Parts: sequence; C-alpha cells; structure tokens
Amino acid sequence: MNIEDKTVLITGANRGIGKAYAEAFLEGGAKKIYLGVRDPKTVEEFAAQAPEKLIPIKLDVTNEAEIKAAAEKADDVEILINNAGILHMDTSMDSVADNARKEFEVNFIGPLLMTQAFAPVLKKNGGGVLITVSSIAGHVTFPGFASYCASKYAAQSLILSHRLDLKEQGTHVIGVYPGPIETDMTNGVHMDKFSPSLVTQATIEAIKSGDEEVFPDPTSQELYATFRKDPKMVETAMAEMLREAKEAA
Ligand SMILES: NC(=O)c1ccc[n+]([C@@H]2O[C@H](COP(=O)([O-])OP(=O)(O)OC[C@H]3O[C@@H](n4cnc5c(N)ncnc54)[C@H](OP(=O)(O)O)[C@@H]3O)[C@@H](O)[C@H]2O)c1
Repeated sequence: MNIEDKTVLITGANRGIGKAYAEAFLEGGAKKIYLGVRDPKTVEEFAAQAPEKLIPIKLDVTNEAEIKAAAEKADDVEILINNAGILHMDTSMDSVADNARKEFEVNFIGPLLMTQAFAPVLKKNGGGVLITVSSIAGHVTFPGFASYCASKYAAQSLILSHRLDLKEQGTHVIGVYPGPIETDMTNGVHMDKFSPSLVTQATIEAIKSGDEEVFPDPTSQELYATFRKDPKMVETAMAEMLREAKEAA
C-alpha cells in the first residue's frame, strides 16, 4: 500500500514519535491525519498548518467512551497507528505496582481497546494497516526498565494475536520496535539516541513493502540480531550494562 491519499489515525500525536508520524504522513501526501490526543489544545498550532488534513480528535487510549466516539467519528481510517505509550524507570525490586498498572493500561490495554474499536473500520475500508509501536524492549529486557519491558512484551504478544485474528479481513499488521529515540520519554536515558524520523521512514517503507516487523535504528537492529542468534548473549550484555551503571553511580 502507498500512503498517498490514505487516511490515518495516530495516538499520542502531539509530541515525540507520534508527532513525527503525523509530519511524515503529511509530507507523504496522506489525505487525512487524525491526531489522537488527550488534550486537543496541544495540537492547535500544528493542526493550523494544514487544517483540511490534520484533524485533532480527543482520545485517551485508556478511556473506552472516547475510543468508541473516535471510531464513530473517524470511520474512514485506513491506517491505525497505536503509538501512545508511557515509561516508568524501575527495577523489578523497586517497581511500584501503581506505575506498572498504568504502563499496562496505556501500553497494552490501550492498543487492545483501540484495535477492537477500529478493526471493523479497517475492514469496511478494505482491510488497511494496523501499526503498533512496541519497542526493542518488547524482545529484550533492559536493566532499570522492568515494568515497561513487561508491558511491551505483552504488547508484542498482542501484535502476534492481531496478526492471527485480522488475517481474514486482510489487515496488514506491523510491529515497530525502536531502540532509544530522542523524545521526552528518553530524557533520563543515557544511551545513544536516534531521530524519530528513522522510525517514521522505516514504518512507511514497511507499509509499502508489506513487511511486518520494523527495527528502525542501529541499536534495535543489532540487539535483535544478537537476540535471534543467542538470547543468553543479550542477557549477559544487559548484566554487564547493569554492573557498569552501578560502578559509575
Ligand atoms: N523514545 C524511545 O526511545 C522509544 C523507544 C521504543 C519505543 N518507544 C515507544 O514509542 C511510542 C511513543 O513514544 P515517545 O518516545 O514519542 O514518547 P513521548 O514523547 O513521551 O510521547 C508519548 C505520547 O503518548 C501520549 N500518551 C501517553 N498516555 C496516553 C494516554 N493514556 N492516551 C493517549 N495518549 C497518551 C502522550 O500524550 P500527552 O502529551 O498527553 O502525555 C504523548 O503524545 C511509545 O509507545 C513508546 O513506548 C519509544
């Protein structure tokens, strides 16, 4: 599928990777881009750049009433991007249950509810494309990200279920697995970080080519290749990363 003249909805579209998706689809000639945001005021200025194409839509991915209303309003969507996400940095020893619950609510239940609401819309519009932004942390467990990784492993399983359950209606299901990307989310993360544009461009390539998995940056590509070859090797590298971090602290 090409993105030209297509209608897309992006959750968490006001900043970070979500906003970069909106900009990339606008540049790529999409017909309409629904900006799913908790607070529409946060995209007023951005939407004014192309008011006929950029349509703000109030959407907290944990709010079932807002999701239902969004699916009724945006019934022309052909590409859904489950992008909204949150991160709490913790170890499995200091993980606060309330933070972990919130991560599961946004990173797992959010895409679950959004996809249930929008699957009939995608079907009506020819099958379409479902994109879920997981993380390399959905394959590999990083030190200091215990509950976030768990929520992204859950999201990974959901992506595989979506691929099974939406095959018959012809929906192309894409999982996106970035490494460290330069956004607000990684403010306190001390690793080499990459531009959100790597994520958006690799995703658009996958929409066009029919690929189902997107590892957009060198860190996610290298880690996933090592993980495929020898999962224990990644575990050892993560233990070393933790040891070095403790020594440096
Ligand atoms: N940055 C990275 O290194 C990285 C790496 C791998 C994967 N990812 C994933 O990429 C996605 C985007 O992350 P990002 O780096 O762009 O993060 P970000 O800059 O922190 O932006 C997060 C976005 O999610 C929205 N959001 C949070 N809770 C929401 C909710 N309940 N309902 C609707 N929207 C909600 C935020 O909206 P508000 O402005 O209203 O808070 C914001 O638009 C996430 O799924 C993240 O896990 C990021």
